[in-house]
Amino acid sequence: MKYQGPRGTRDFYPAQMAWRNTLTSAWRKVAIRNGFEEIDGPTFELLDLYKVKSGEGIVSELFHFEDRGGRELALRPEFTPTLARMVAAEANSLPRPIKWFCIPNCCRAERPQRGRLREFLQWNADVIGSDQPVADAECIFLLVDLLAELGLRPEHVHVKISHRQTVRHILAKLGVPEDKMLAAFDLLDRRDKLQPAEFTAGAAQLGLDTFAVERFEQMCRRKYPADDLAHLCRSIGLDGHLKDLEILNEQLRAFGITPWCEYDLGIVRGLAYYTGVVFEVHEVSGAERAMAGGGRYDQLIELFGGPSLPAVGFGMGDVVLTNVLYDKGLIPENVLPSPDVFVVPASEQAVPRITPLVAELRRQGIHARFSYKTTLNVGKLLKEASTVQAAYALILDDRSAGGIVSLKNLRSGEQRDLPLSEVPAAVMRNK
Ligand code: HAM
Repeated sequence: MKYQGPRGTRDFYPAQMAWRNTLTSAWRKVAIRNGFEEIDGPTFELLDLYKVKSGEGIVSELFHFEDRGGRELALRPEFTPTLARMVAAEANSLPRPIKWFCIPNCCRAERPQRGRLREFLQWNADVIGSDQPVADAECIFLLVDLLAELGLRPEHVHVKISHRQTVRHILAKLGVPEDKMLAAFDLLDRRDKLQPAEFTAGAAQLGLDTFAVERFEQMCRRKYPADDLAHLCRSIGLDGHLKDLEILNEQLRAFGITPWCEYDLGIVRGLAYYTGVVFEVHEVSGAERAMAGGGRYDQLIELFGGPSLPAVGFGMGDVVLTNVLYDKGLIPENVLPSPDVFVVPASEQAVPRITPLVAELRRQGIHARFSYKTTLNVGKLLKEASTVQAAYALILDDRSAGGIVSLKNLRSGEQRDLPLSEVPAAVMRNK
């Protein structure tokens, strides 16, 4: 009997695991150099935590179950509710602003498709305790810093920025009543996933007629470069409603990232807790699902029993990011860890020296390997060393009894004799 993994999950063989580690290392390195500290929480929470404020979209995709005591639990579909719970519990003892990041796995019972799986990794970064636009800008800078670290450029990806209050204002003018606003955000966020008829029916339920939907679609289709906010104000007739975006714009300019950013009122975000600026990262052709999404959520910590603490942050998944990097040729061919040195016996006498030597090299922090084969065929052993992409082969013949060995650089082919004691330094120099 053969078993398959559950739908929408992945097995990580060494090559995939090596890429996952490369990605998580980049996430971690970039978050740390931007001043964020790492946290984590449980893989599952009480179901209610997600029902409070994540919104219909996420609640309908929860993997939930009951424990033996009848408590209803759910696998985490996102990290923000856990973060809000953690902050609320320790709010008075935490130095502010709180700048945290984490790399949890998340589970959503979504229909698996390109860019969307049922288990994925999600890099989260959040700033809690500041209502200043510099915090929003720092989150966006962090995203851009990561994209650039992985080799992406503004011609590949954009950060699309919008504001819930601006969209709310437009929707209100088009006739959406206040009590249907969250449902309208959810519907708009899902519009690419819905059939046109489903979307129109949903819009009608919210009080929008066909004309109003068309008008909104027109506004959403237009994009405004980050240095052209005034144009956006004029074209939607919203002078005075964009103060937050104007201040944010100044910050983005100061961080030097305006070429990566554009304003796009089509971004509303499906999650219910956002209150202000919202943003998503998209591949420019628009062919891929969102690579990252986030925004300001100033009321969530209070809702979880903490003090009133403004917050802003984002989540970036590994799936679409990897697809985009792959398409742009930005994934290195081999990210498997390769040995610094492969030790090769070239005489019967040298064989018993191999294992103690490998052990000593490893104790010194050198990635050292040897073959399990019992051959003295140096050509074959060098081939094995090349296959695993070793940087050097360390060849031991009869002279190794007197402490002399041969070090072959497998990239340049250059080979030289040297005292065994000098090998670690020679290998480390080129590491
Ligand atoms: P989200 O938009 O639901 O936001 O997810 C953020 C990102 O996670 C998406 O842009 C995508 O890269 C990835 N993602 C989401 N669902 C899937 C899936 N089924 N398969 C693969 N990747 C997926 C949030 O989760 C918010 N909690 C982010 C946040 C943090 N807001 C403030 N702080």
